[in-house]
Amino acid sequence: MCGIVGIVGKENATDILVQGLEKLEYRGYDSAGIFVTGTDKKDYLVKSLGRIADLQAQLSPEVQGTVGIGHTRWATHGKPSERNAHPHTSGNDQFILVHNGVIENFEEIKQDFLRGEQLTGETDTEIAVHLIAYFSKETANTKEAFKKALSVIKGSYAFALIDKNEPETIYVAKNKSPLLIGLGEDFNVICSDAMAMLTQTNHFVEINDGEMVTVKADKIDIEDEKGNVVYRESYEAQLDLSDIEKGTYPYYMLKEIDDQPTVMRRIIQEYTNQTGETMIDPNVIKEITASDRIYIVACGTSYNAGWIGKTMIESLAGIPVEVHLSSEFGYNMPLLSEKPFFIFLSQSGETADSRQVLVQINELGLPSLTLTNVPGSTLSREAKYTLLLHAGPEIAVASTKAYTAQIAVLAVLAKAIGDKKNRSASLAFDIAHELSVIASVMETIIDEKMEISQLVEEYLAVTRNAFYIGRGVDYYVSMEASLKLKEISYIQAEGFAAGELKHGTIALIEEGTPVFGVITDKKTAAHTRGNLKEVESRGAHNFVISIAALSKETDQIILPDVHPLLTALVSIVPTQLIAYFATLQRGYDVDKPRNLAKSVTVE
Ligand code: F6R
Repeated sequence: MCGIVGIVGKENATDILVQGLEKLEYRGYDSAGIFVTGTDKKDYLVKSLGRIADLQAQLSPEVQGTVGIGHTRWATHGKPSERNAHPHTSGNDQFILVHNGVIENFEEIKQDFLRGEQLTGETDTEIAVHLIAYFSKETANTKEAFKKALSVIKGSYAFALIDKNEPETIYVAKNKSPLLIGLGEDFNVICSDAMAMLTQTNHFVEINDGEMVTVKADKIDIEDEKGNVVYRESYEAQLDLSDIEKGTYPYYMLKEIDDQPTVMRRIIQEYTNQTGETMIDPNVIKEITASDRIYIVACGTSYNAGWIGKTMIESLAGIPVEVHLSSEFGYNMPLLSEKPFFIFLSQSGETADSRQVLVQINELGLPSLTLTNVPGSTLSREAKYTLLLHAGPEIAVASTKAYTAQIAVLAVLAKAIGDKKNRSASLAFDIAHELSVIASVMETIIDEKMEISQLVEEYLAVTRNAFYIGRGVDYYVSMEASLKLKEISYIQAEGFAAGELKHGTIALIEEGTPVFGVITDKKTAAHTRGNLKEVESRGAHNFVISIAALSKETDQIILPDVHPLLTALVSIVPTQLIAYFATLQRGYDVDKPRNLAKSVTVE
């Protein structure tokens, strides 16, 4: 979603802003813009619909300065257009603002404060910059005017503001949306994500909700809501530039699919010891073991991983698990058990839907754990405990290695709880060994990607729709496989419980409809094969992904056998490749699907 960058105090501000915006492209956006100025008070505002490359094409050589802000916009209020792109300017042309988030009361603000004001676009952000200008008539102090505007604004935001009369300062404030300050020598930067400014610094300072930060070249001043000065240590980002480069890969998604065996081995290293025993904070294990029910709360791919987590935790740890969509749970909370424990799954750690649930859980004083790929992310800071995924930055919009990392970390967690509870089923199982088998099997599948590419051509090159079907864990994998396929190839794909098709959805099967069956579970294999026969009789073009022990010679993809509780970690890999190749063959951008954002920071 929207991304923000800013810099104070460097000669080539324009280049740094543009490079920063390129690093934020992965978040998803539809327009972009920059504002640059300097002590000579010349200033430039350039905006463009489309990609950063389109913005660059509009930047003439004189667009230079030492101070600036930049923005990638993912449209919420008002369609994608140059007019609606950020930065936005106040009516008196004094203030320039970029914004990530949603201002919920923008209509009321318009009515109460800005009647008769000439607005040029349809965005909520434009309202905010006009409101700051409105309050600047009451106080000549920009920070005070900004604070007054913030006291009126309701919603989520990360704001960066420049007053053209003080071109050596950026004012920054946030509520619920991410924003960091990066520290340099004789310059400072701001960014939605440390990745955007890694070429400049790897020392960052977090900003808390409600704080106001004044960023100058030689210092930053943080004030809390009451105006008290806040001192906060910086931290060193555990990232280096090679983590976020594509290298020789044509797309990040392919690199990230290929990364998965390495990620599995990293998880073994981080969470198990030399003798294969689990190593997870004993306080987390103790608190989960004492709970009577686990609630997994997540969105999208993370939600799909949650279902696999449920099967593993229930089998190994013997604690009932419910899996919920964050966007539903927060506003329709089920009756909770007496001793609930909450697990939030979020690759980014910034998803607004999940965060609103965590806020409520914290208000209820209930214990929580976040599994996230991003240390220091909002969900990580606000949950009682965090387990990191150690997947390395995931840049492609379609999540792949974060999904398998979530499942692997949940597997270790389930095993650790089972061990703590002395459950015999879990004691007989060496998680480090089984995950290392998984890593090798993933490599085998990835090595055969060109065969998968050929199959995809036969099945998906022209189809309008497709189905993934399975039962139990194979159904949960089908949910994720179909999400992957639809989000990047735009094929209308559904993941379905194989036994449920005949209760209605089978009506959609026509001559040639691709149906992918996932078969890795002994107790349901025969039934899923039966369901595949039913669709085949009605014209479906079947494609079977099976585990060797349950395979038939005619199956299209046969996977080596792995531990029965971990099959999702391998059966998902061909489906990721299927989505990748289908998208390439249909001529779409694999890494940047339309309408989607990587980090979804609005509800
Ligand atoms: C799909 C995808 C999304 C995310 C969802 C939640 O490939 O990546 O469905 O899984 O937006 O994001 P996180 O995990 O960051 O909370």
